[in-house]
Amino acid sequence: MLIHSASQLLTLAGGPQRGADLGRLEIIPDGAVLVRGETIAAVGSSAELRAAYPDEPAFDAAGRVVMPGLVDPHTHLVWAGDRAAEFDLRLQGKSYLDILAAGGGILSTVRATRSASPESLLEQTRQRARDLFRHGTTTAEAKTGYGLDIRSELAQMQALLDLDAEGPLEIIPTFLGAHAIAPEYKDDPEGYTDLLCSEAHPALLEWWQSHGGGRPLPFVDVFCERGAFNLAQSRRILESARALGFGLKLHADEFENLGGASLAAELGAVSADHLVKTSPADIAAMARTGTVAVSLPCTPFGLAEAHYTPARDILAAGGLLALASDINPGTAWCGNMQFVIALACRYLRLTPGQAVAAATINAAAAIGCAARLGSLEPGKQADLIVLSVDDYRHLGYRFGINLVTHTIKKGQIYAF
Ligand code: NIG
Ligand code: FE
Repeated sequence: MLIHSASQLLTLAGGPQRGADLGRLEIIPDGAVLVRGETIAAVGSSAELRAAYPDEPAFDAAGRVVMPGLVDPHTHLVWAGDRAAEFDLRLQGKSYLDILAAGGGILSTVRATRSASPESLLEQTRQRARDLFRHGTTTAEAKTGYGLDIRSELAQMQALLDLDAEGPLEIIPTFLGAHAIAPEYKDDPEGYTDLLCSEAHPALLEWWQSHGGGRPLPFVDVFCERGAFNLAQSRRILESARALGFGLKLHADEFENLGGASLAAELGAVSADHLVKTSPADIAAMARTGTVAVSLPCTPFGLAEAHYTPARDILAAGGLLALASDINPGTAWCGNMQFVIALACRYLRLTPGQAVAAATINAAAAIGCAARLGSLEPGKQADLIVLSVDDYRHLGYRFGINLVTHTIKKGQIYAF
C-alpha cells in the first residue's frame, strides 16, 4: 500500500532525540510511505514513490498530516471501578497521599479490581484500550499494580496479554506489584518488600515461560514515594528484578523527592517517570545515562496541582525526555496523548515539534522499542496516524478534540 499526498510527512527519522536535539521532525512535504505487510518499505516524496510504485494500491492522505503512531510509555490501563467520590473529596481539600494513608486511593481500586471477574476486568480495560487507539496511540506500556498479591497481579498481567493479542492496540507490559503496600502488610512494608523480591518476581519469571507467548520479559516498576516504597525498599525491589533479567522503570518524585530518579539512572532503568520534584542533581544523573525522563502532565493537571516536570532543565542538561498519559483511576483518567501534547506545550513549555518527538520516538525509547517503533523509516513497523489537519502544529495548539482520522497499525487501516 502506498500512502501518498501527505501535506507533511513527519518521519522522526534518526533515533531518539536528546537535549537540544529534541524536536527534529524530519518532515517531507507532499510525502509518501510504502507499506509492505506490517513493515515500512520506503519513505519519500509522493512524486518519487508514485513513479517508483505505479501499481501499488493507494491511500490518498489528501493534503493531511501523516506521522508515526503515538506511543504512550506509562499507563495503568487495567483496573476495575472508579474513584469519582475521591475526586470530589480532593476538591474539598483532602490530599491524594492522605486518602491513600487512610486506606483509599490505590487501595480502593485494589479492592474493586480484586473482586472483579476476569471477564469484567478485561471488558473495562478493553474499552480504555479502544479509546487510546482511537486517539492515535498505537502502542502503550501498561502496568499491573491493582492486585498487590501474586495471584491478582498475574490476573492483571493476563488481561494485558489477552488485549495485546486481540489488538489493534499493542501493549508493552510492566509488573507493578510495588504500587502500594498490600493491605495484608499494612504494618509491615519490609515484609511486603521481601515478598516481592523473594516470591513475586521469581513467580512472575516462571509464569512468563508458560504464559508470555514468547514475548520479551515485562518491565518491573516501583512507586517510590512517601506512603508507598522508600528509597531503600525501591532499590531492593529493583535490584532483585534486575538480577532475574527484568528491565526496570520507576515512579519517582511525583509528590516528594526521595532520590528515585538518581536511583533509576544508577541501576540503568529504561525510564524514570513523573519527575515533578526532581532536583538538578537527579536531572544530571539521568542525563549522563540512557534513562529516559518520562513526564506525565495529565497527573498534576488531574490533581489540580501547580507544579509540572522541569522539562526545559532536563533538555538543557542533555537528557532524553518523553511524554505519557499515566491513565489511571486516581490522578488522571485520560489516555488521550493529543491532550498530553497540548498540556506539555503549555506547562512544560515544549514547542509542538518537541512534544511530538517526545510522544513518538522518545516515547518508544522509554519502553525500549525505539529500534522498531516511533518513526517512519524503512524496516520499522508500519504504525502511522493521519490527522484531519495540514500542519502538525495543530497538535498542541488545539485541544479537547480528536484530530486523528485514520490509524494504521502493523499495516492495517482503521478509520474513525
Ligand atoms: O502514576 N503514583 C502512582 N500511581 C498512579 C496513581 C494510581 C492511582 O491513584 O490509582 C500515578 O499517578
Ligand atoms: Fe503511574
